[in-house]
Amino acid sequence: MVSAIILAAGKGSRMNSDIPKQFMKVNDKPVIYYCLKSFSKANVDEIVIVTSEEYISYCNELVAEYKIKNVKAVINGGKERYDSVFNGLRSVNGAEDDVILIHDAARANVSFALINSITKEVYKSGAAIPVVPVKDTIKIVEDGKVVNTPLRSSLNIVQTPQGFNYGAIFKAYMKMQTENHDGITDDSMVMEIYGDLPVKTVLGDYSNFKITTPEDIKQFMSLKLDD
Ligand code: CTP
Ligand code: MG
Repeated sequence: MVSAIILAAGKGSRMNSDIPKQFMKVNDKPVIYYCLKSFSKANVDEIVIVTSEEYISYCNELVAEYKIKNVKAVINGGKERYDSVFNGLRSVNGAEDDVILIHDAARANVSFALINSITKEVYKSGAAIPVVPVKDTIKIVEDGKVVNTPLRSSLNIVQTPQGFNYGAIFKAYMKMQTENHDGITDDSMVMEIYGDLPVKTVLGDYSNFKITTPEDIKQFMSLKLDD
């Protein structure tokens, strides 16, 4: 079985908007609609939406209005992204060998083809994330001074959905609770630090960017959305 956790419990502080970015309207539809549509088109058996308490009933209404199939539950998130993921993992109740996909609702332009190719790799190797090569040279800067230039050819931008064997990622998240885990920004890091499976990479899409700042929402609006 393949389950997906859609993360929509953030406040979107970098967007400077009155409502969280995942609920801002683009083409008359909330941002979260676009990824839900891709997940319902992909080979995914059940979807859990994680959001903040005040948006739970709104999300249930959206699911009904847009007839998003396979949504099993809309649940409460946590303070940090990893807290929201952990709530999602506990609500899924999957079997050890199930596939779990973890996706940022703010990554609205995800394709169902990418979702399926991550799933395929997880069935093969247990852990997979989408990446795209960095195009620019990246510098490590401290106090306004360059201290290092990492080799560009090994640098990649990481996206979601990140996919894992359910038993393995659940075990890693359980271990993480017992240790200091500040600075964890994605699920792959949880597997890298607390888990025991190597994380494979799959080529993502440059258009699968995360809507984070006002420039990003403008870019998303300008994409020709055919629905
Ligand atoms: N997220 C979540 N629970 C949190 C924090 C974030 O479910 N406690 C979700 C967001 O809703 C988003 C995804 O995780 O879909 C990626 O997080 P990010 O882009 O950082 O979103 P925000 O935390 O909402 O934005 P910001 O960091 O600018 O406040
Ligand atoms: Mg955040």
